[in-house]
Amino acid sequence: MATSASLILCSGARTAAAHPRQPGNAALSWQTTDLGFSPTYTQKQVIYIFVKCSFCGKLDHPAFGASIMDLSLKGRVAVITGASKGVGKGVARAMAAEGVDIALIARGREALAEAADEIANTFGVKVLPVEADVTDTASMRKAAEAVRGHFGKAHILVNNAGAAIRRQDREIMWDDSDWLNQVQIKSVGALRMIREFLPLVPRDGSGRIINIAGASGTMAWMPALTYGLNNAALIHVTGYLAADLANDKITVNAIVPGLVGTEWREDWAAAAAEQAGKAKAEWLSDFCRSKGILSGRWGNVEEIGDLAAFIASDKARYINGAKLAIDGGLTVNAR
Ligand SMILES: NC(=O)c1ccc[n+]([C@@H]2O[C@H](COP(=O)([O-])OP(=O)(O)OC[C@H]3O[C@@H](n4cnc5c(N)ncnc54)[C@H](OP(=O)(O)O)[C@@H]3O)[C@@H](O)[C@H]2O)c1
Repeated sequence: MATSASLILCSGARTAAAHPRQPGNAALSWQTTDLGFSPTYTQKQVIYIFVKCSFCGKLDHPAFGASIMDLSLKGRVAVITGASKGVGKGVARAMAAEGVDIALIARGREALAEAADEIANTFGVKVLPVEADVTDTASMRKAAEAVRGHFGKAHILVNNAGAAIRRQDREIMWDDSDWLNQVQIKSVGALRMIREFLPLVPRDGSGRIINIAGASGTMAWMPALTYGLNNAALIHVTGYLAADLANDKITVNAIVPGLVGTEWREDWAAAAAEQAGKAKAEWLSDFCRSKGILSGRWGNVEEIGDLAAFIASDKARYINGAKLAIDGGLTVNAR
C-alpha cells in the first residue's frame, strides 16, 4: 500500500513534500485527494517519508526518525500547559504528529484557538483548546473537568507553562510579589496541574508526567534567578513524584532545555543584536559560543517536542525520574 501510494505522489507537485509540521501545510489533504483513498495516519507518515526522500533526500528530518521508530501513541491523550506558543506548542505538534489527541492550556484565547486549528488541520487529531490559568485553582479544576468531559482520560501531562524572561534588572532586588508571581506560575502551577489532572491518568503503564524545566535550574544563568528557582524546583518535583507515583505505574521525567528559539527568544535576540551593532545570526552564534553551547546554536521547539514524544511513548517505559538535558552541550561543565 505504502509503495504504490508513494509512486503516485512522486509524479505529483513538488510542493506537496512540505513538512507536515510546518504551519499552513496542506500536504496531508493533498495526498488524500490525489490518492483516491483515505490513508491511515501511519500510511500518511510512510508516504510522506517516501516523497521527502525522493525529492530532496533529507533523510535526517525529524518526521523520518519519528515514523520509523513508530511510537504507537495514536489514540492517547496529552494535556499540555502553555501550549499556545513556544516550547509547549512544539511539544503539542510533535505529539499530534504521532497521533496523540491534545488538550492545549493557556490564558490567551486568540493564540490558543489559532494553535488548536493549526494542529488539528495539520495532523488530523482531536484538539481541545482550554482557556485556563495555572495560577488559579478553580480555573485548573474547570480545565480538568473539561478534559474529562471531552476525552474521558489524560495519559500524558506536560507541565510547560512559564513566564518569558522580560526584565533585565537585578532580580534579588525585586518585590516579594514579583518573585511570588513567578513561582506561582511555574512551580506551584505545575503541582496544581498535576493534582487536578492526576485522577484522569490511567494506572496501566501508559501514564506520563513530563515537566519542562530548564538549564538555569542547574547553573547560574543571568538574569534568571526565579526562573532558575522554578527549574530547580521542577527537577526536584520530578524525582519526588517519580517515587510517589511508581506504584501507579506513572513515570515522571523532566526535560531540561538550554536556550530554545521560541517567538520571544527571536525578539530578544533581535534586540540584543541591534544593541551590539551585529547581524542577528552573528550575534546569536557569538552568544551561544560564549555560553559554552557546544553545538553553537540554540535548540528549536521541534527538537524539544521530539524528546517529549519519545518520553511519552511505551518505548520510554523504563525512563523514570530522569532529568534529560537537551541543550547542545551547554551543561557539560555545569556543577
Ligand atoms: N525559551 C527558552 O529558551 C527556554 C529554555 C529553557 C526552558 N524553557 C521553559 O520552557 C517553558 C516554555 O517557555 P517558552 O519560552 O516556550 O515560553 P513562551 O513562548 O512565553 O510560552 C509560554 C506559554 O505559557 C502560557 N502561560 C503563561 N502563563 C500562564 C498561566 N498563568 N496559565 C496558563 N498558561 C500560561 C502562555 O500563554 P498565555 O500567556 O496566553 O497564558 C504560552 O502559551 C517554560 O517553562 C520555560 O521556563 C524555555
